Amino acid sequence: MVLEKNFRKYSHVVVTGGAGFIGSHLCEEYLKQGAAVTAIDNLVTGSFKNIAKLEGTKGFRFIEHDISASMPDVGEFDLMLHFACPASPVDFAKMPLEILKVDSLGTFNSLDAATKAKARYVLASTSEVYGDPLEHPQKESYWGNVNSIGDRSCYDEAKRFAEATTVAYRRKLGTDSGMVRIFNTYGPRMRLNDGRVVPNFCGQALRGEALTVYGDGQQTRSFCYVTDLVDGIIRYAATDRTEPVNLGNPKEFKIRDFADFILKNIPQSNSKIESRPLLHLDDPKQRRPDISRAKEWLGWEPRVSLEEGIKKTIEYFRTVL
Ligand SMILES: NC(=O)c1ccc[n+]([C@@H]2O[C@H](COP(=O)([O-])OP(=O)(O)OC[C@H]3O[C@@H](n4cnc5c(N)ncnc54)[C@H](O)[C@@H]3O)[C@@H](O)[C@H]2O)c1
Repeated sequence: MVLEKNFRKYSHVVVTGGAGFIGSHLCEEYLKQGAAVTAIDNLVTGSFKNIAKLEGTKGFRFIEHDISASMPDVGEFDLMLHFACPASPVDFAKMPLEILKVDSLGTFNSLDAATKAKARYVLASTSEVYGDPLEHPQKESYWGNVNSIGDRSCYDEAKRFAEATTVAYRRKLGTDSGMVRIFNTYGPRMRLNDGRVVPNFCGQALRGEALTVYGDGQQTRSFCYVTDLVDGIIRYAATDRTEPVNLGNPKEFKIRDFADFILKNIPQSNSKIESRPLLHLDDPKQRRPDISRAKEWLGWEPRVSLEEGIKKTIEYFRTVL
């Protein structure tokens, strides 16, 4: 990617959660741009395999560490991307305390380190801060509709807390911080068993199992390909913006139509589509980003079509299976 002239360039980027799905793609892209990169990860949901090909690349370093406990010493750096956090619905039930800790203690620890280093800091926030939204599409100015004691609350409320902490550090200590609100992202290095619709459907179709559609399948989702997302994050990090920016693909698909689409893209699969009762996980019925701010501030919008992105993702899942 080519950044506009007035965008900042960084020499040493620290990525918490660097061995995760999105974090590993960020590490790869910053290395391509010539920055040194330190990935910090405790591998709770990430995998060393995601960054194995970066090992040995000049300027790359991996530190296995739990940032909820403390921050390791990484020397001087000028950008910290705080991406450590289990992020899929299956994690919400399995590790709610770890999620709450990494978004609270981990956010404090990483903000302390960035403030001390006088580095730019970008928090990975999420569309989940809008909860089950009552406004469509969601603009950054929308305050959200979150159930603080629901099945997803460990994640939604933790991210809201992380946003508040990030803002407080800027106001109180002058930290050069901002945040991106990420909507559903898919692509290679997602976990096949992470409970989200893309790996679910692809895994089921590749294994010849029925694709499970919950409820009437009329609920919608939008999907952003990971390289588009990474482009948006890098653009945001290169500005001095402090307010949140939505990053996601505004094109909506009904889940039922998406199941048909996956089967069309795996023609050799003989899977059928099966309806199941809706799970009560405070699952938002509809979510779609308003990306006017990203267009205006960053000159960003998604470019990879669903056809192109899904093909690459299916290829990846095939290698995993
Ligand atoms: N994938 C999406 O669609 C999406 C959407 C919205 C927001 N996000 C946010 O983006 C970030 C990355 O998400 P992802 O999908 O790549 O998830 P992921 O689970 O693949 O990556 C998270 C990484 O953080 C690491 N980690 C977790 N707790 C840690 C700790 N205490 N110390 C060190 N490392 C820790 C994990 O091992 C993992 O490698 C998360 O903050 C997530 O909330 C993702």
